[in-house]
Amino acid sequence: MFYISGTGKAIPSQIVTNNDLALYLDTNDEWITSRTGIKERRILKDHTENTVTLSAGAALEAMKNANLSAKDIDCVIVATASPIQPIPSTANLVAEMLGIHGPAFDINAACSGFVYGLSVAGGFFAQNMYENILLIGADSLSTYIDKHDRSTVILFGDGAGAVTLSATENPQAGLLGIDLSGDSSLAPILEVRNNNHPEIEENAESHLTMNGREVFKVAVRSVEKSIATTLDSANIKGQDVDWLLLHQANVRIIDAICERLDIDREKALTNIEKYGNTSAASIPILLAEVAEQNRFKDGDLLVFCGFGAGMTWGTCILRWFENK
Ligand code: COA
Repeated sequence: MFYISGTGKAIPSQIVTNNDLALYLDTNDEWITSRTGIKERRILKDHTENTVTLSAGAALEAMKNANLSAKDIDCVIVATASPIQPIPSTANLVAEMLGIHGPAFDINAACSGFVYGLSVAGGFFAQNMYENILLIGADSLSTYIDKHDRSTVILFGDGAGAVTLSATENPQAGLLGIDLSGDSSLAPILEVRNNNHPEIEENAESHLTMNGREVFKVAVRSVEKSIATTLDSANIKGQDVDWLLLHQANVRIIDAICERLDIDREKALTNIEKYGNTSAASIPILLAEVAEQNRFKDGDLLVFCGFGAGMTWGTCILRWFENK
């Protein structure tokens, strides 16, 4: 069994508001807020900030909150779709920066990456392989966004969130339910192609392309099904959920999910207004902020659900515990 022993986050210093975007794009604060719930996002300021530095910042905060040092960490997993280089992995670069020795690897499941990572870590704990795992969700999708594409630039922000996961004898701890799902035939509705792609001209820039309406529909349908299936398999009723931590992509998606699953809207935590969609970082940043405010109580039932490019989606259920 394991529990979340520490949480942390790191966000770029540069704030880009809806009004900042409206200065050079045919858009406005009212449209963006009413369609998405987003008011501002954080964007990498310069080359001193990137997916690795944000990951390391979030990891240090999580380790500090858990009272763990580099020598205590047995494995590093980073969920990211925006590494600064293909190899070695972001996790290797972070481990080296923080002085952590041991296995380190990345997971790319786009915006579902943190939930996929949680289930992978849960498998390691089930095999009693490690005492402490550092799991980070980090993305800098601004590096893939065409700043003049009003349909995508309004949505995404950069950031990183991290958790330390620690072994415990508590029989109520650990994953109470998991669902990892996806549909690769839907890949073209949200993608970034690079120069290796056969249909991309040499030296063309890689930009994120998205069919927003289709993504919206798939997200609502798949998230509803994933959460319902996972609750069902764990024999838990919607009303027994204390907190829903959904990927922060669009507040209207979150509203629709709560309505369809008959879960009180107040239980669905949000911070999308401040950060937009930070991809694999959105759930761990949200978790870190709410933990910082001491809003979770011992034994609270937390449902995590991510969805994103691939298409990928998935749900993990676990209880919050203050101590081992
Ligand atoms: N500002 C002002 N108008 C905009 C705009 C913007 N930033 N972006 C699009 N529009 C316009 C469109 O051109 C369209 O105009 P038209 O009716 O004259 O053709 C109109 O607004 C409606 O566009 P539409 O794309 O139908 O809006 P929507 O209600 O579907 O909202 C999204 C667009 C992107 C906000 C919404 O589809 C969405 O959030 N989808 C999910 C995306 C997502 O979550 N992606 C990440 C998944 S991990």
